[in-house]
Amino acid sequence: MNRTAEESHLLRIKNLALEFHTERGVVQALDGVNLAVAKGEVLGLVGESGCGKTVTGRSVLGLIPCPPGRIVRGEIWLDQENLMTLSQENLRSRVRGSRITLVPQDTLGPLNPVHTVGTQMGDILKYKGRSRNGRPNRPGSDHQEILDLLRAVHLPDPDKILAKYPAELSGGQRQRILIAMAFLPRPELIIADEPTTALDVTVQAQILKIFRDLVARDGCSVLFITHDMGVVAAICDRVSVMYAGQIAETAPVRKLFESPRHPYTVKLLDSVPSPEKKEISQIPGTVPTLININKGCRFYDRCPQRLDRCRDHKPGLTQADEDHAVFCHLFG
Ligand SMILES: Nc1ncnc2c1ncn2[C@@H]1O[C@H](COP(=O)(O)OP(=O)(O)OP(=O)(O)O)[C@@H](O)[C@H]1O
Ligand SMILES: [Mg+2]
Repeated sequence: MNRTAEESHLLRIKNLALEFHTERGVVQALDGVNLAVAKGEVLGLVGESGCGKTVTGRSVLGLIPCPPGRIVRGEIWLDQENLMTLSQENLRSRVRGSRITLVPQDTLGPLNPVHTVGTQMGDILKYKGRSRNGRPNRPGSDHQEILDLLRAVHLPDPDKILAKYPAELSGGQRQRILIAMAFLPRPELIIADEPTTALDVTVQAQILKIFRDLVARDGCSVLFITHDMGVVAAICDRVSVMYAGQIAETAPVRKLFESPRHPYTVKLLDSVPSPEKKEISQIPGTVPTLININKGCRFYDRCPQRLDRCRDHKPGLTQADEDHAVFCHLFG
């Protein structure tokens, strides 16, 4: 990515490293993570459980609990502003819930159990307003806007939904409400953390289409976190593959599916079920605990193509193509 292209990205995460200090030792949850999301782009962040997807998204929002968490280096830029230099108060009043919103992985925790959905959605517009970013106001009242969004995420009878308390709704309904809430203040960036996992497959396909339409309508950017390559294919423009707290590979979605380079990406794609495959291949082993992790490539123990140097030397960036970055000694 050249400098001009990089500067044109709305979100830029540079060399981010995050640790958790636990009784068992120091968890090196993120190590040298670089990501960039362009304006209007949906960037997928994909990887197995425990790879660091959620903590990457929460770092952007300043939501890492400290202690035990500590960001040890890196920069996080939203347009022209380095978010790492902002106080919690500034993040809360100027960024979180207004310029950047989150669709969280957990659907019950983020909703207040003692207020109706209607009160909570109204409060978003009352206290967070709308991040206009030069875009015109949509016509219609706040209430109308809330109703339109609930219908958009396929919640029929929105007036009834607004009168309910979170515990009265199903997991799938709550997930759709959280998606609607994320779009409500018209943010510049949405961090969507596994936003469709509580939905069944047919509804998931509908919601992904709606999500995509809302992104196109609002022109916002999305960091879309998922472990599902099928979801990546359905909604993302580009994708970064994450393994054990590091980025393994970043490319436009089609390129990544057609010519994956990193052995981890190849294995992830092999494990996606399809009608042509008789057997689904699994990646042997599991993601390491990230405590006392080896200095070299973190995929070393599970990699079928490992070289001697992979054990002790961390792979650097290789540009497989102008828009295709890979971190692997096989290409270095
Ligand atoms: N509060 C914490 N204290 C200690 N370790 C933590 C904490 N939060 C996260 N971690 C560790 O950071 C690593 C990354 O966790 P994270 O939740 O980001 O994974 P993930 O990729 O989102 O996984 P999943 O797909 O299961 O949601 C894991 O090793 C996890 O145990
Ligand atoms: Mg997660």
